[in-house]
Amino acid sequence: MKVKVLGIPVDLGANRRGVDMGCSAIRYANLQNGLEKIGYHVEDYGNLYVPNAEKIKIKKTSLKYAEEIIEVCERTAPLISKFMEEGFIPLILGGDHSISIGTIAGCSNALGDVGIIWFDAHGDFNTEETSPSGNIHGMSLGASLGYGDEMLVKVGGKKGKARPENVALIGVRDIDPKEAELIKESGINVFTIEQIDFMGMREIMELAINIASNGTKGIHVSFDMDVIDPSVAPGVGTPVQGGISYREAHLAMEMVANSKMLKCLEFVEVNPILDNKNRTAELAVSLACSALGKKII
Ligand code: ARG
Ligand code: MN
Ligand code: MN
Ligand code: MN
Repeated sequence: MKVKVLGIPVDLGANRRGVDMGCSAIRYANLQNGLEKIGYHVEDYGNLYVPNAEKIKIKKTSLKYAEEIIEVCERTAPLISKFMEEGFIPLILGGDHSISIGTIAGCSNALGDVGIIWFDAHGDFNTEETSPSGNIHGMSLGASLGYGDEMLVKVGGKKGKARPENVALIGVRDIDPKEAELIKESGINVFTIEQIDFMGMREIMELAINIASNGTKGIHVSFDMDVIDPSVAPGVGTPVQGGISYREAHLAMEMVANSKMLKCLEFVEVNPILDNKNRTAELAVSLACSALGKKII
């Protein structure tokens, strides 16, 4: 049981500055110690180099910082593959959600067939044409499935990192109109917050784990902290009222652990500037422990 921690301090994909500090905040919340306590051998690779916004000019307002984000993602993908080939579960700390274009590419290259469970208030399925903001963190799931800018889509070599039938998007409650059309067209499985209310997180997670396991070699879990209600996780850049509860988030992660299919895990969009005494980062640490098998007794 070994975990390799990797920080990717990108905030170029989001509209609020500060998520680049998410990796430090999560480490300061005692990540390594928490994982060691549950029996993991933990290695921390440190952070990837990411140019800071002050040094760069936005070339295209419909695809902000595309060149820099693509370059970081192209460096991320082979590193994630390598960690996995060495027998580690990569635990990636964001950074904004644009980093998943690289992490999923790496996980997909290592496994061949991967399922994705993506927790988010948002769809992250915009393209340059549908995005209201031009922010790439709102495009990363779409790009991973082959929608959007050619360079984004081709990160890591192949287009389409998972089959849409192996992808579950959970907790969404803020989707842009044209983004909704693309999501439907893609054929991925969507579980809105409304469905979580109606069916309960347990049933949703049973479905999602089946979806992401069916015919795959493992599951990549991408956890955007804004899926959780902002009263519990205030330290995020794009909060949306009415998110999942503290217990629902833990239940979901406990079920991921029980599935024994988890191959790669990431927590993104923690913004310490907007947080309240680091509680969002602390929550990310306790969720990571649950996903990696922590038991109450
Ligand atoms: N839908 C909005 C956009 O595309 C918000 C995306 C928020 N994404 C995130 N990873 N927090 O700009
Ligand atoms: Mn997201
Ligand atoms: Mn989000
Ligand atoms: Mn929106």
